[in-house]
Amino acid sequence: MLFDLKDESETVALGAKVAAATQGGEIVYLSGELGAGKTTFVRGFLNALGHSGNVKSPTYTLVEPYSIKGNNVYHFDLYRINDPEELEAMGIRDYCDGESICLYEWPEQGKEVLPAADIILSLRHSNSGRKVEIESKSAKGEQILKQF
Ligand SMILES: Nc1ncnc2c1ncn2[C@@H]1O[C@H](COP(=O)(O)OP(=O)(O)OP(=O)(O)O)[C@@H](O)[C@H]1O
Ligand SMILES: [Mg+2]
Repeated sequence: MLFDLKDESETVALGAKVAAATQGGEIVYLSGELGAGKTTFVRGFLNALGHSGNVKSPTYTLVEPYSIKGNNVYHFDLYRINDPEELEAMGIRDYCDGESICLYEWPEQGKEVLPAADIILSLRHSNSGRKVEIESKSAKGEQILKQF
């Protein structure tokens, strides 16, 4: 499915809509060039679940953990990864335990080691706004797509 996101607020709203459809344990890939709106989506997602603080890009730390109403959400940014071994070394496989939600910016950088996606959102620039393509890759992903 392909949607237009005409301004930042629509990217935030998309994050909220996807968050509302999660049950726990989802693996979400956020693809798209620099500035495509991936972190903006994550902000909408986390705020909708009940996170009220700010959302910073874990570009240097690789992962930012959130505990929201007893549920863990991990936001990864793999932009700076040069070698999948760096991900093995940080124990990237241990985060996704089937209950925690994991959101990955730049998933292409971790291809060999990331868990398989339930849903993939691909964002791109389009005039002054963005376009997003959403694909489900599992039954869990399909549950989310049903909302659209
Ligand atoms: N639908 C939209 N239309 C116009 N601007 C948008 C839209 N969604 C987000 N933006 C803006 O795009 C800019 C970059 O957004 P963001 O930081 O979320 O991108 P990113 O994909 O995470 O980039 P990076 O790859 O550098 O991490 C921000 O200024 C944000 O407000
Ligand atoms: Mg980002």
